Amino acid sequence: MSSKVIEELKNNLKIVNSQEKLENIKAKYLGKKGIITLAFKELGKLAHEKRKERGVFLQKEKKQAENLFLQKKEEITKKLKKEKTFVDITLPGKKFSLGHIHPLSQVFKQSQEIFEKMGFLVVEGPELEIEWYNFDALNFPKDHPAREMQDTLWVKEKGKLMRTHTSPVQVRYMEKNSPPFRIIVPGVTFRNEATDASHEVQFNQLECLMVDKEVSVVDFKAIIQNFFDQLFERKVKVRLRPGFFPFTEPSFEIDIQDKKGNWLECMGAGMVHPKVLENSGVDPQKWQGFAFGFGADRMAMIKFGINDIRLFYSSDLRFLNQF
Ligand code: DAH
Repeated sequence: MSSKVIEELKNNLKIVNSQEKLENIKAKYLGKKGIITLAFKELGKLAHEKRKERGVFLQKEKKQAENLFLQKKEEITKKLKKEKTFVDITLPGKKFSLGHIHPLSQVFKQSQEIFEKMGFLVVEGPELEIEWYNFDALNFPKDHPAREMQDTLWVKEKGKLMRTHTSPVQVRYMEKNSPPFRIIVPGVTFRNEATDASHEVQFNQLECLMVDKEVSVVDFKAIIQNFFDQLFERKVKVRLRPGFFPFTEPSFEIDIQDKKGNWLECMGAGMVHPKVLENSGVDPQKWQGFAFGFGADRMAMIKFGINDIRLFYSSDLRFLNQF
């Protein structure tokens, strides 16, 4: 049986929901001036016979009260712990940042889309090439300085090299297919160069080849004009200068004008040399065409106004996040 005081305490504890309130109530019962503490002090006033009985009663009451407080304390702690794992679905969610396409890949992707709309097929070739496709088939004479012009990375296996340009894929494709041809070849290329702001050992090119019965320089000019206008999203001024490549005759260097009016060299091109067609099993009496190749890194640098090619390969997010 519990006393009136304990019954009242039980009632009071029912609505307590924090440690702070619990402490307040505890003070009211067991504190210096608490009900139970004061009752002990009253003991002295009682007659001797009654004192002992009252004393035992109060001890029991005190013990009960202490247990009740302890129980309540545990109850509140448990409840708080539970609340901590509660998920508040009204809070804003965690942000996941989405990656985006590398500026170089953007230029490749956009270039491919432009050429595909003009009926060109995207073709690939091996990065580890043999001398025949990289040089001989493209009409580089054995002792011609042009071979050294492209500082080649040779591998240990004799006659094999890291392709110095994407042009060998022209021959590989023509060998296996019959004309007419309209292809582009995006891909990585390698040269043994000292790296600086405009040179990297590994870089990217996009090659183009169009062969048909009556393809001329006029078609070439129209196609690159269309390409540049779409890629740079403005009317681009294009200039052809005479150039030299063993695999084209005549050969051109192509310049485009930037927004400030400066001429920038941006691709090599020409009418496919009859010897290259012959080496690829295509009859030069029946077929003719043009080819060009450009550095995709350089094109991206012009498009985005970047002045150092090494930034593309640095994986520096401060740079990449700008595109
Ligand atoms: N392959 C040449 C280079 O890497 C670029 C080039 C020039 C490609 C003329 C062509 C071309 O297709 O006709 O320097």
